[in-house]
Amino acid sequence: MKDGFGRTVEYLRVSVTDKCNLRCVYCMPLEGLPWMKRSEILDYEEIEQIVRTMAGMGLRRVRITGGEPLVRRDLPDLVAMLAKVPGIDDLSLSTNAVLLEEHADALRTAGVRRINVSLDSLREDRVDDIARRPGSFPRIMAGLDAAERVGFEPIKLNVVLMRGVNDDEIEAFAEITRRRPWHVRFIEVMPTGGNLGISADQFFSCQAALRRLGRLADLSPVEGPKGNGPADYYRFPGAPGTVGVITPMSHNYCDRCNRMRLTADGHLRPCLFGHLQTNLRDPLREGRSIVPLIEETLRVKPERHHLVQGSAVGSGGLVALSQTGG
Ligand code: 5AD
Ligand code: SF4
Repeated sequence: MKDGFGRTVEYLRVSVTDKCNLRCVYCMPLEGLPWMKRSEILDYEEIEQIVRTMAGMGLRRVRITGGEPLVRRDLPDLVAMLAKVPGIDDLSLSTNAVLLEEHADALRTAGVRRINVSLDSLREDRVDDIARRPGSFPRIMAGLDAAERVGFEPIKLNVVLMRGVNDDEIEAFAEITRRRPWHVRFIEVMPTGGNLGISADQFFSCQAALRRLGRLADLSPVEGPKGNGPADYYRFPGAPGTVGVITPMSHNYCDRCNRMRLTADGHLRPCLFGHLQTNLRDPLREGRSIVPLIEETLRVKPERHHLVQGSAVGSGGLVALSQTGG
């Protein structure tokens, strides 16, 4: 699949729910969001149909996201269905790991190979303050242990940086990569309609994070783990893991964008931000071909996002990344 700028799109992020069992301060308000209706949400057969159609057009890799994907019932069943689709050779999952311990085995058996875990602090009190569901921290740690035990590889940790909240843990997060085969990725907070205060006042750039780490030791740029995402990676000498940065705000990686997103309610989004999306659900339910709709979405995929720190203008009406799968 080639878009209008010649980029090859072979990766789809599939959001299976807009709900979440956490309330991260930069993502969801404490009271939650107006959730999608059950009838609007694609069932597993519909998701499989869309993935199968796109695989016929060149899709190779699928990542399951949310909200929090593990709050959706029987997720391993979907994984098993997607693993059977001809052409799909890479299945991954993004999760907050709260429910991972109990599902790790089944997910691995069903075909998930790679996993990303969101974790913004290594201190229980801070995770409680950031994710706002006390008691989550030990479950997340147990989820990470389970991920290692069942053999997900690579395991990536996503750390959203916030000034005055977790920026004093940059070194501690990096140090983990000397001991464990984890790929710690610092992410700049992206503005959405729901987090403008944080994205304006608590923004912490990855460049500043790297400057801090540069003082710590000799990190060298390396080829990252499998995934071909937007991150740039570094490694301590002899370390099993790597340190990565994802810089949506201070740097643009849109020229190597290889992905589209499918929302839980069946809209194909060519870009994380912006208003563009194509309803695939209704045509699918009416038995019409979705191929021309996918082709058209690919054709209008924007050249880049237009995010502005602390402003909602570039976010295209998004309140939270949980609505599109991040
Ligand atoms: N800015 C940056 N990262 C975000 N995430 C969720 N919302 C934002 C935001 N506004 C992160 C989550 C998770 C990943 C899917 O996206 O923490 O790690
Ligand atoms: Fe849930 Fe992820 Fe949003 Fe946190 S960032 S509230 S874990 S969807």
